[in-house]
Amino acid sequence: MITKTFDPVVRVSHLSKSYGNITALRDVSLDIYTGEILAIVGDNGAGKSTLIKTLSGAIKADSGYIQVGEQSYHFLSPTKAIRLGISAVYQDLALVDCRDVVCNIFLGREIVKAGLLIDRRKMEKEARRVLNSLQVNIPSLKTPVGLLSGGQRQGVAVARAIIQGGNVIIFDEPTAAMGVQESAKVIRLMQELARTGMAVVVISHNLHHVFEIAQRICVLRQGQIAAVCNTMDYQPNQIVELIMGAAHITRAGMGGQIDAAN
Ligand SMILES: Nc1ncnc2c1ncn2[C@@H]1O[C@H](COP(=O)(O)OP(=O)(O)OP(=O)(O)O)[C@@H](O)[C@H]1O
Ligand SMILES: [Mg+2]
Repeated sequence: MITKTFDPVVRVSHLSKSYGNITALRDVSLDIYTGEILAIVGDNGAGKSTLIKTLSGAIKADSGYIQVGEQSYHFLSPTKAIRLGISAVYQDLALVDCRDVVCNIFLGREIVKAGLLIDRRKMEKEARRVLNSLQVNIPSLKTPVGLLSGGQRQGVAVARAIIQGGNVIIFDEPTAAMGVQESAKVIRLMQELARTGMAVVVISHNLHHVFEIAQRICVLRQGQIAAVCNTMDYQPNQIVELIMGAAHITRAGMGGQIDAAN
């Protein structure tokens, strides 16, 4: 089990975000650790996607800050987030369907030779290496990603995040539209990423998956943190109660300790 003997790789402090009179996030604080799988759960509209979008730089919070290493930021741009090692695989995967696998994996980060020519061969080799390491089977890298299966598309999006480098990878409902076998593959993939030392943050509505892979579960309710739990200390029905608001609000940090800072 992970023990709290090291600093978080990312520390989210007091983030709030409103859209008009809708409060998407209210004073959210959360720590993320290297090598863990942290699940974020909550009902529709609880603020899960908003939270991870502030981390990946897709949206700006109204207040609060994000600490990465020694530095604190009021907001991150997508480029800054990637530079700091945070990448996200979104609900819609943000792939360009008409472009092939290699183009999508290297979108915006193409390898060039002689200063201006795209080095397609090198990109293919690197794409193949990363896809193999993820055990994602795509027979031809020239296939437009619009023709791939859900699991293969997920693989391409993850390969792109890996090519970007970094040590925190965020998934927004990665198995939502997948069958049993493809979901199992994506779950294995997230476990593999955590095993190699990345911090994996995953939003999921599937508590079965959450209990299978996550060491910690952050429950969001109406934009607020309802609890941060060690998975092994909880039963799925207790998490459902926290999601629905039927349980007392608790704040259990790493190691099952009550931790006011998290
Ligand atoms: N761009 C936006 N403009 C206005 N309201 C928004 C916007 N994005 C999110 N919201 C609102 O903020 C709240 C939180 O939305 P968010 O997408 O973070 O929820 P979620 O927990 O990811 O839900 P789901 O499980 O359905 O994906 C919701 O009430 C949503 O309607
Ligand atoms: Mg969402």
